[in-house]
Amino acid sequence: MTDDSRTASAAPPPVDTTAPHSARVWNYWLGGKDNFAADRAIGEQVRHIFPQIVSNARAQRDFLTRVLRYLAGDLRVRQFLDVGTGLPTAGNTHEVAQQVAADCRVVYVDNDPVVLAHARALLTSSDVGATDYVGTDLHDPAEIAQAAARTLDFNRPTALMLLGILGHIDDHDEARLIVTRLVDVLSPGSYLVIADGADVDQAGNEAQRNYNRAAPVPYNLRSPEEISAFFSGLTLLEPGVVPVSDWRPEPNATDKPSGTAVYGGVARKG
Ligand SMILES: C[S@@+](CC[C@H](N)C(=O)[O-])C[C@H]1O[C@@H](n2cnc3c(N)ncnc32)[C@H](O)[C@@H]1O
Repeated sequence: MTDDSRTASAAPPPVDTTAPHSARVWNYWLGGKDNFAADRAIGEQVRHIFPQIVSNARAQRDFLTRVLRYLAGDLRVRQFLDVGTGLPTAGNTHEVAQQVAADCRVVYVDNDPVVLAHARALLTSSDVGATDYVGTDLHDPAEIAQAAARTLDFNRPTALMLLGILGHIDDHDEARLIVTRLVDVLSPGSYLVIADGADVDQAGNEAQRNYNRAAPVPYNLRSPEEISAFFSGLTLLEPGVVPVSDWRPEPNATDKPSGTAVYGGVARKG
């Protein structure tokens, strides 16, 4: 942890271990151990209906890694705002980015008290870079921007990462407004990165309905067109908004999941 690393949350709310939560169910599908019986139960139920959920979760993490390498490497972005961080896993945002360029600065944002409890693992920055964790809610983009500005200089290009989180904002117009508010804070030459569950697979849709009946915070699958609309006004990088496994895959990838129902893309501001 560097001197700049800190957590910016008041006392976290108590954790309800009897209800499934997306960060922990996601952790379960990724093979992690930071989950409770309620998370594993719904995780298994979804997997029974839609077995590809596990490869889809993996594909989203692989997309994150490829995007970070491209942004930090080819495009020389040095600042990352990762909202909806999830529980620490192999290849956290700051680790991948700082492997490419040690001076990358990363701010994580999540509203889950369990993620906050694990935030220490996310605050292991290189000496010349920085990481911070902000325990706040995506519904409050102004607070996110204000807290992130302690670590990030918004006069410089920043990549805003929203992976697996926009589905938690029920209303599409509200989700678009939140994205717009956050993008407004970014300087020209910044990037928006989104990955979200799409309603393109019948079994996936049924599995999601089951999940939403059990989870206090549902996740709404959107059409690829609705996901594309989040990028409106920005310049989409090739290949556009596609199943994340098709976004600039490694040339020799042999384990590419087919038919990924997570769609994503990257766009440039200005
Ligand atoms: C499915 S996980 C995705 C984790 C990670 N981005 C990834 O792609 O692997 C969704 C994360 O978003 C967080 N989240 C959900 N709603 C949120 C909100 N309104 N504000 C902040 N974080 C939220 C959850 O706590 C969880 O950690």
